[in-house]
Parts: sequence; structure tokens; C-alpha cells
Amino acid sequence: MTLEEKIGQMTLYTSHFDQTGPTVREGYKEDIRKGEVGAIFNAYGAEFNRELQKIAVEETRLGIPLLFGYDVIHGHKTIFPIPLGETASWNPDLMEKTARIAALEATAQGLHWTFAPMIDISRDPRWGRIAESGGEDTYLNTVVARAKVRGFQGDSLESEHTLLSTAKHFAAYGAAKAGRDYHTVDISDRTLREVYLPPFKAAVDEGAGSFMTAFNEIAGVPATASEYLFQDILRDEWGFDGFVVSDYTAINELMPHGVAADSAEAGKLAVKAGVDMDMQGAIYHRHLPELVEQGIVSEETINKSVRRILRYKFRLGLFENPYKYSDKKREEELVLNDDHLDLARKTARESLVLLKNENDLLPLDKSIPSLAVIGPLADNQRELIGSWSAAGDYTDAVTLIDGIKQVVSPQTEINYARGTGFDSSDRSGFAEAVEVANQSDAVIMALGEKANMSGEAASRSTIDLPGVQQDLIREVLKSGKPVVLVLMNGRPLDLTWEDENVPAILETWFAGTQAGLAIADVLFGNYNPSGKLPVTFPRSIGQVPIHYDMKNTGRPKSENKYTSKYLDIPNSPLYPFGYGLSYTTFEYSDIQLNASEITKSDSLEASINVTNTGDLKGKEIVQLYIRDLHASVTRPVKELKAFKQINLDPGETKEVNFTLAREDFEFYGLDMNQIVEPGKFKVFIGTNSEEVKEASFNVLE
Ligand code: GLC
Repeated sequence: MTLEEKIGQMTLYTSHFDQTGPTVREGYKEDIRKGEVGAIFNAYGAEFNRELQKIAVEETRLGIPLLFGYDVIHGHKTIFPIPLGETASWNPDLMEKTARIAALEATAQGLHWTFAPMIDISRDPRWGRIAESGGEDTYLNTVVARAKVRGFQGDSLESEHTLLSTAKHFAAYGAAKAGRDYHTVDISDRTLREVYLPPFKAAVDEGAGSFMTAFNEIAGVPATASEYLFQDILRDEWGFDGFVVSDYTAINELMPHGVAADSAEAGKLAVKAGVDMDMQGAIYHRHLPELVEQGIVSEETINKSVRRILRYKFRLGLFENPYKYSDKKREEELVLNDDHLDLARKTARESLVLLKNENDLLPLDKSIPSLAVIGPLADNQRELIGSWSAAGDYTDAVTLIDGIKQVVSPQTEINYARGTGFDSSDRSGFAEAVEVANQSDAVIMALGEKANMSGEAASRSTIDLPGVQQDLIREVLKSGKPVVLVLMNGRPLDLTWEDENVPAILETWFAGTQAGLAIADVLFGNYNPSGKLPVTFPRSIGQVPIHYDMKNTGRPKSENKYTSKYLDIPNSPLYPFGYGLSYTTFEYSDIQLNASEITKSDSLEASINVTNTGDLKGKEIVQLYIRDLHASVTRPVKELKAFKQINLDPGETKEVNFTLAREDFEFYGLDMNQIVEPGKFKVFIGTNSEEVKEASFNVLE
């Protein structure tokens, strides 16, 4: 390979099909023809990708096949709930299955590589990409990471049904100051390693084939120029053998970050840090040849990157058959088929979180004579598939009102009114909304955000319901009819007023292609909601950042004035991490431990009995947390370490058993080595991070 051909393999350009970043480059087909491009993203469709692949394979000197990548984040054509919503299912089997289906559909349309899973721990609801994440908890996100990599990559990348995955964004992108996208990240190495890195390590252990750099800096060093991240940790400590792709023009952005004086220096910093492929920046394309000729970058550095990239083209089987992923017949059979739509409905159901249900207002009766369905999301398809829905087509989505019509009695009269827009001050539709409420036996209000109010470059400075939607609720409540608030949103919202005034609240996130049916299934009792929040819902933006695993501080809140609290609101969130109601009730026994003290190398068995004390069968997600009460560094007041799903019939009791082992008690000590220290621990088991039973035990030397 010539130097230019090698550097071509390190160059990734977008097609004109879709734009997911600030710049688009013309003439990418000519670049391919010159052998100066190794991968194309934002291109899909069996025919189109075959056309581009033919250029690379048949018109270049070496005929090295292209790698086709795309953001297949929560489905390809069949769209599943946004990742924050899917994580609320706490169901790793489902998470793996939806990734599997996404891979089936994407590979049928010529794709080899997805820029997923996004496994950035996200604790700031102002940050729009929280929608794309698995929420605030490290352990839950390691479960998400493993499930997604398994789902996308399957048992072998050789198969034409599997997608190369990308663990992104490395690292700590979700810790952006003030929740402002791309903003500075300044966290300790201990926080980086204990909170933000474990899901990425899990992705490596599961065999993820690529990583993507984060836009942000960490403590003064932009991730895309960080040898600490990509050489010391990712390759030397973790043994990662895949390749690293920059995020969209992230190499170019080393200049505005202020660590590169020009684009050549940006290219030098990135390639030396271990970034193998330049997404859309054209920096490697333009500058690496001269940097090598000047001896500033060694050709061995280039060779290492090219080897990593070609290794995965071989593993994908592209050299044997560059066209095996572009299969028109498979495309027609697989995309949006009934099995995929059924899974979308099932996943959406399990992602819904019941936040309030005063006097068991829900489920509503399917034979209700008349029903008002009000709000900008009642008869809306576009928003349902959320952000990062890529190849998804919102016209395939089932609206809430259509879903309701398919679930309730044909005799039920449905009265619809839009009421207002999303973020307008338009109250002109209020009168009609109140009118349809007055005509009906119950009211469902579908309110929330537009899909583009979350996702990339979509941070909000408030987390209230946008526009005058809350005023619309006030007016409709005056009808005196029972009101159910159905929320569609990409982030935690401040629902303090809604929680005080609305009898029933259902969080549905953006639930995907089958959203309307899944929401109707829960509203009318076809499915008993089981979702649990993967992220804290604050009482106010003023509490942010707030997450369940905070530190105790030296002055934990008490009646004493001089303790850590606010003058105007409690420290506790409105709805805690792990929270979600059911149409039935569950009772927890006391915890049984198999020992009151263990050595560092022992494991501990904890068990608890859970009883369904209601009259409907239901699924419960039993959560286990621990606390290390005294250690050489401060430890969180709770840490999720395990969870289990159980299905219980009315009156049924099941024993739930957990095993805690050494790695569950490990943390980074003063010298930043992972250790377990003797001392007193607590174990908590319960229905969310606040409502728990507890027991104590000691770890001995
Ligand atoms: C975007 C996103 C990244 C995505 C990439 C390609 O800027 O940050 O998550 O995979 O560009 O679309």
C-alpha cells in the first residue's frame, strides 16, 4: 500500500444521504475512486451502497472494500424507544433483542457498522443527549453496554446479519458543565474511573470492535488528543484490539479547544493519541502524508492504525464478498416486518414508567363511553420516534390517538383537540380543549417536548413542560373530569406542579414506531406498567446535578441549620432513580443474609421475599444497593450492584436471591488502585433507590 492508500483507510466521509454534523464535503465519490477514502457513513440502501462499493472494489488500485457506518442507535427502520426509555425497562434481554433486530434491518440495507451503543453516564437533564443514554447509573449502563454489543455483533462479525459496534463517546461526554452540549468536563480521575469508564470497559470485555472519541476535554486535555484515554487505558490497560474513530470533525476541533495551532498539529496530536480514523475532518487526508514525510509522525504509527481498521474489514468478511450486505431481497423481507413491530410494541410497553396513579384512576375502562384526547402529542407521528432515529420513518409510527382507537371499544367516542403547540404561547386552542373535556368521561393529555428538544446540540436551560402546556392542564382540570397526563420527552422534566395537581402521570419518553399502541396497552390495562426510572427526576432545576449515589458530606442534612440543604425545597428528588409504580402492589420482607461478616475473598448471599399484595399480576424489578460506611476515601450513600425482574400473580410470593462478590465492594483507594477495605457495609433491597429494606454486614481483613 502506498502512504496515500494507507491514509485513505483512515479517512471517513459522510454521503449526502443524511447530515449529522456541521459540515458536509462534496466529491466523496471521486475521493473513493482515488482510493483516498476507507469508509462512508450516512449512506444506506442495498442499491446505493452497492454502487459506492463497486467504485471502491472495481475502480481503485487495491480494491479495498469500503466500511459503511451509520447511527443505528435505537432501531434502523423499526424504531424502538429512545435509549433512555428502553433502559427504563431494566430488561437486558430486550435491549439485546432490539439491537439484534436493528442489526438485521441495517445489514439488509448495506450497513456494516453502527455508531452505537452510546454509553455516556448522564446525570444532567439539561443535556439533550441524556435521551440517547442509559441514564445516571454506572452498573445499569454496564448492563446496557454488554447487551447492546452482544445484540449488534452477535456471535460473529463474519455473518452478514451482524453489525460492528462502536462504544461512544470516550469519555465522560455526559459530564459537560451545566448540561451544555460540548462544554468542558473537569472531573477527578477517581470519578472518571469509578463512574464514567466501567460501561466502556464492559463494552471492551464484550468484544466491541470500535470506539468513538468524545468532543469534550477532560481536565484540560481534549479526549480526541488524549493518549491517557486511548493508549494508556483503552489499549494498554484494557487490551482493546479494535480501532478508534473520531467524532464528527473532532480532530479539527482541537484547534478551537486551543491545543492545536493549526490543522496539521491537530492531525499529529490525534494520530499519536491513538485515533485511527478521521470522521469528516479531512485532516488525516490533507496532512498525514506531509507529517510522515517530515518525520513528525512515523509510518509505523500509520501502519498500526491501518492494521486495526483492515483487521475489522477482514473480520466482517468484506474481502471475501464486499457486496454480501447489500441484499435487496433481504431488505424487502426484513425491514419493518411483523415480528419486529411486535418487539417494538413489547419493548415500548416495558419502557413506560407510571409516576402517579391516585385512587387507581388507571387503568381506564376500555368500554368508557367517551374520552377526550388532548395535546400536541395526541395525534402526532413525527415526535414519537425521538432523536437519533436515523433511517426511521415517522410515517410508520402509530399515534397515541390511533393506538387508543385500536384498544378501546368501538363504541367509545373519542374527542380530540390539539389545545396548544409545543413551545409557543398560543392559547387559542384552550377553549376547544376544555370543550372536548367537558363532553367526555375522562381526559388523556399528551404533552411534552418535540423530539428535537433533546438529542445532540439540544440542551435546555429549564426542564419545565415547554410553552404553555402547563396552563392547558390547569384549564382542562377545571372541567372536573379525571385527567391522565401522558408525557413524551427526552429528558427528566420538573413535574412538581403536575405531581401535585394531576391524578395520574405516565412517562412514555419517545416510545418509537409502536408508541401509540404500547401506551394504549398500559392506559387500558393490556399491560401492567413495570418500568423504573434510569435517571432521577428533580423537584427543580436548582437541584441539578442530583443523582441517587451522592456522597454523604460532612454535614448531611438534619434539623440543624448548619447542614447541607436548601432553604426552599427538600434535598430529595421528586421521583428517585429506580422509581416506577405498578397497577398492583408489592410487599418486601426483611433481608436475609447468609453471614453477618465475610472476608474480602468471600461472597455474600442476600435474599428477600416479595409478595404481590394487589389483585393484578405484575412484574417487579427488585433492586440491590450497597453502602461502604467507612473507607479511606468517601463512598456514595448507595451504589446499585444488581437487579432482578420477577413476575408475580396476585397473592404470590417469590424469594429473590442475590450474590455479592469482591468486585462489588471494590473502589479506587487513595493511591488509585482498586481495593476492598475491611469495615461495615449495608445492603439495601427494594422497589427503588429510596424505598428499601436494609441489613448490615462486616467485611473482615
Ligand atoms: C455526531 C455525534 C455522534 C455520531 C456522529 C456521526 O456528531 O456526536 O454520536 O455518531 O456525529 O453521525
